Amino acid sequence: MALFGRGPQTAVLAALIDGVRGGGGGGAVLVRGEPGIGKSALLASAETHASALGFSVVRLFGEPARTGVPFAGLQQFLATVHRLTGERRLSRFAYLGRKPGE
Ligand SMILES: Nc1ncnc2c1ncn2[C@@H]1O[C@H](COP(=O)(O)OP(=O)(O)OP(=O)(O)O)[C@@H](O)[C@H]1O
Ligand SMILES: [Mg+2]
Repeated sequence: MALFGRGPQTAVLAALIDGVRGGGGGGAVLVRGEPGIGKSALLASAETHASALGFSVVRLFGEPARTGVPFAGLQQFLATVHRLTGERRLSRFAYLGRKPGE
């Protein structure tokens, strides 16, 4: 989907992704704005860009119930990579931080 008026923001995310591909160290970007302003659409376009370059894209979601869980985002990431790849060295992370029944 074409994004209107988001050239600078798209360029920041594309440069970060391209930098990783070129051997750069990566980084983090905080995307924030009012509801409906286009945060998800911007990230979707970055995801399309990364996928086109051959990256695997993992989406993580924060939730209020896990705000007290240390490194909840990292745990979610490692558990997701474990699920996708079956990498056995990550198996210890698969259930950390899960609530009973999950
Ligand atoms: N720059 C843009 N060009 C074209 N369409 C856009 C643009 N920004 C947002 N939209 C469209 O507006 C709608 C809302 O955008 P989006 O869902 O990305 O907002 P959001 O900031 O993630 O909202 P929320 O805070 O509710 O998650 C979507 O249909 C999206 O495709
Ligand atoms: Mg959104």
